[in-house]
Amino acid sequence: MLRSEVMDYYRRGGERDRLADGQGPLEYLRTWDVLTRVLPSAPAEVLDVGGATGVYAGPLAAAGYRVHVVDPVPEHVAEAASRPGVTAEVGDARELPAPDRSADAVMLLGPLYHLLDRAQRVSAWREAGRVVRPGGVVVAAMISRWASMFDGFVHAYYDDPTFQGLVEGVLVGGVHDNVDPEKSFFTSAYFHHPEEVAGEVSDAGLVVERVVAVEGPLWQAGPRLAEILADPERTELMLDMLRRVEEEPSLLGASSHFLAVARHP
Ligand SMILES: C[S@@+](CC[C@H](N)C(=O)[O-])C[C@H]1O[C@@H](n2cnc3c(N)ncnc32)[C@H](O)[C@@H]1O
Repeated sequence: MLRSEVMDYYRRGGERDRLADGQGPLEYLRTWDVLTRVLPSAPAEVLDVGGATGVYAGPLAAAGYRVHVVDPVPEHVAEAASRPGVTAEVGDARELPAPDRSADAVMLLGPLYHLLDRAQRVSAWREAGRVVRPGGVVVAAMISRWASMFDGFVHAYYDDPTFQGLVEGVLVGGVHDNVDPEKSFFTSAYFHHPEEVAGEVSDAGLVVERVVAVEGPLWQAGPRLAEILADPERTELMLDMLRRVEEEPSLLGASSHFLAVARHP
């Protein structure tokens, strides 16, 4: 069952425009860039688990994919289902409401960092593996072990001793133990070390093909990011640079998010 703090957090409606400000547009652009290279060609059936308001499902449907969103938050599901070509239902990554081998691709862009126990994350991977067809792909997002420390520093959350305590816990074991939900430091969450991804995936019977940095080190570009994104030539140059280093192991943890691309062995 979904923890109430996670439901309460998302019911505040933040996912509607999370990717529109700050480092959000870079996360979106780069995630889309990777998806267009790793998903099977359209038309293919995509199960978007944790798809929220359909921020990726809508554009994928517009590109010719058949997309079904599964998300535990009813408000997300209603908004996703209102997008042209997208269907949606309430559900949980650990017990997907989908038959075996019914999708060409399964996206887990969000559920994994909300599952604090390794066994639960492995369950989500195993469910994705059950639902994806042989030859299909599972793409999952994780938040880096070091993202909260640097993000908190830049946004001055780090001035709050409660936040400093949260970061200490993350650095030791990955768990962001959000003891005071009123402070809005996200929800309790799990922030991955890039090197532990392959083990979680293989325990679920899948094999990691690639682990790819989403924003790379540029998620901390601050106000310069908006200037770069307003200039198509510089945006293309930035995307080219990020593609060149996206699988560089020494840079993976410097990205706020990374994506694992997995398949059946
Ligand atoms: C930060 S949002 C990401 C939304 C979108 N996929 C994206 O990448 O921008 C995380 C999403 O995961 C969903 N989620 C949280 N726990 C989940 C679970 N156990 N199963 C499925 N989805 C879950 C939330 O409701 C939310 O929509």
